[in-house]
Amino acid sequence: MSNQRRPLIAGNWKMNGLRSTARALADEIATLRKSQPDSAFDMLICPPFTVMETVGSVIENSGVFLGAQACHTALSGAHTGDISPVMLKDAGCAHVIVGHSERRMDHSENDSHVLAQAVAAIEQDIIAIICVGETESERESGKAKDVVRAQINGSVPANATAGNTVIAYEPVWAIGTGKVATPDDVQEIHADIRKTLASQLGQDIADGMRILYGGSMKPGNAKELIALADVDGGLIGGASLKAEDFWAIAQSCPSQ
Ligand code: PGA
Repeated sequence: MSNQRRPLIAGNWKMNGLRSTARALADEIATLRKSQPDSAFDMLICPPFTVMETVGSVIENSGVFLGAQACHTALSGAHTGDISPVMLKDAGCAHVIVGHSERRMDHSENDSHVLAQAVAAIEQDIIAIICVGETESERESGKAKDVVRAQINGSVPANATAGNTVIAYEPVWAIGTGKVATPDDVQEIHADIRKTLASQLGQDIADGMRILYGGSMKPGNAKELIALADVDGGLIGGASLKAEDFWAIAQSCPSQ
């Protein structure tokens, strides 16, 4: 964590939440956030599309941002089942996750799709949270850094800035498994991501850009991870579905 970058604690609800449970969870999170309006971190929740409006109305004026988990590259048109960045903007989204490994797997999204989604989101003034991360076999064969570098090269737009883009490093083998990368491994990859960003976008942009860790982040490991020099918050799945755990992770951010 560097003083230069404000931590972001982002909840990825994935395919969880009906209107009643989503409203209750969002309400708890908003109440906690309002209890500490001056805390030096940003909080974001990314619910499923079906409860976007419900969650958006509950968190309005609470200081918690609303985000989406995916978007199409087109602004409107014949794309059955998809949601455009214009629609996200209209629904009050300030952020969108692109290239999550579950989307890369379930929907065969590759780096060029992810790049196009990030470009489309940024054009609508939506912050793109671009996910990267290696699989277990890629790590075991010593290719983690190469895989992540290639994903950064292939999916981060040329006009990315610290204001319009966030990177999330999520080792695929750590997502939802309870396995967490060691702090040394996390710092090594995050530093390498920042170096890759610097060669692509320039040192100033790389120094300002937030790089989140994701993959079994919990109240018990968040402090150690967020304290690492190049970790600027978390993208949290399972633990973001419990307000007290999500809040405890946010409380792990340094106080200034
Ligand atoms: P997890 O998910 O916290 O449940 O491991 C993280 C993510 O996939 O964003």
